[in-house]
Amino acid sequence: MANNHRTISNVLRGVFNRICLCIARLLFPAQLRMPFYRATGMKIGKGSKIAATVDVDQSAPELITIGKDVWVTRGVMILCHQRDLQAYEVGKPVMDCPLVYKPVVINDGAHIGIGAIIMPGVTIGKGAVIGAGSVVTRDIPDYCVAVGSPAKVIKNFNQTEK
Ligand SMILES: CC(C)(COP(=O)(O)OP(=O)(O)OC[C@H]1O[C@@H](n2cnc3c(N)ncnc32)[C@H](O)[C@@H]1OP(=O)(O)O)[C@@H](O)C(=O)NCCC(=O)NCCS
Repeated sequence: MANNHRTISNVLRGVFNRICLCIARLLFPAQLRMPFYRATGMKIGKGSKIAATVDVDQSAPELITIGKDVWVTRGVMILCHQRDLQAYEVGKPVMDCPLVYKPVVINDGAHIGIGAIIMPGVTIGKGAVIGAGSVVTRDIPDYCVAVGSPAKVIKNFNQTEK
């Protein structure tokens, strides 16, 4: 999904999102932050918490879906856009490549460790645990532990997948 239109309503929406995300960072406890995250269009289930220092993609927070009882810990980055390098050519600035937007889904009960980076288009399974500092570039299955860069499954608690 690509979205490179800079209309007045998009710019105003961007300003609104950034204000909401700035306010969310100032609030404590985590429950007080959730209405401000939701106001940006993020879908967040009951019981989920997002730490104050989480860096949510400011240009497309509405592409982020977080299930119930998810814990996104300090310093995590959730990205929904990147440059489409299919159009990249020698001698041209990479900034000329269009942006491509992809949704991120973090399913019920997942735990995202400190400083992890969730890349565009990734779905993290139910109950999955992502290790601190991991870079998640591909989908992660339910009930497992995934660590590293790129994140790989090191433990699987899902009996049906053993
Ligand atoms: C991922 C995690 C849950 C794994 O815990 P665990 O299941 O007890 O795993 P272990 O400590 O037995 O480690 C298993 C292997 O993964 C490696 N590993 C663990 N965490 C890792 C990480 N974040 N990145 C890379 N490798 C990691 C270990 O070095 C070990 O490797 P080895 O088998 O080669 O020795 C834990 O290390 C982690 O990162 N937790 C998040 C901490 C956090 O964010 N806390 C915030 C609380 S609010």
